[in-house]
Amino acid sequence: MNEMSWKGTEQKMPFEPEKGMECLERAGIKHKKNVYFEPPFHCEYGSHIEVGENFYANTHCVMLDVGKITIGDNVMFGPNVSIYTAGHPIHPESRNSAFEYGIPVTIGDNVWIGGSCCVLPGVKIGNNVVIGAGSVVTKDIPDNVCAAGNPCRVIREITDADKPYYFKDRKFDEEAWAKINGK
Ligand SMILES: CC(C)(COP(=O)(O)OP(=O)(O)OC[C@H]1O[C@@H](n2cnc3c(N)ncnc32)[C@H](O)[C@@H]1OP(=O)(O)O)[C@@H](O)C(=O)NCCC(=O)NCCS
Repeated sequence: MNEMSWKGTEQKMPFEPEKGMECLERAGIKHKKNVYFEPPFHCEYGSHIEVGENFYANTHCVMLDVGKITIGDNVMFGPNVSIYTAGHPIHPESRNSAFEYGIPVTIGDNVWIGGSCCVLPGVKIGNNVVIGAGSVVTKDIPDNVCAAGNPCRVIREITDADKPYYFKDRKFDEEAWAKINGK
């Protein structure tokens, strides 16, 4: 089996697009075209979520949207990604008052968030970013980087030198390379 494949709508997206879109409308999620959440998906309000075009979230995505969650274009989530805008005070007496806050989370364009990541209240993730699997994103992440870990830290910059590779030192074959370059 060839280890390369395309997650295009015609191949691997487990699409029931109409059903999916209906759910988004019902939940009040603002979105552009080609947005899909693999079920199950959980959010609190829905109306506090704004998603750009070409969005895909794998299964068990959780968005605690007490504060606003804004997601750019061309964003992919692995399974079990949680976006938390919500939290409670640290001091027990303040916390026991049932006070909850919601501080917005923003995710830029062209972002891939690996499986089992957790993005905490107030975080801004830039454009062209990869967040490694299992990361807990506690602080802002700049544009054009790969970041990973708990706490999530920049591990390297992403440059044009990365373009011909799909995994470590493995290069795209000719057919895939032509498709990437629109030929
Ligand atoms: C981040 C990722 C894309 C690799 O990026 P990369 O730039 O090729 O990174 P490398 O594998 O060269 O690793 C660089 C360093 O970061 C570390 N690292 C990589 N991924 C990490 C992660 N998820 N958490 C913590 N550290 C990580 C490596 O151990 C390595 O550390 P070292 O320099 O001390 O040896 C990959 O590790 C990853 O997490 N993929 C997500 C896969 C996934 O979630 N799939 C679900 C379907 S979407």
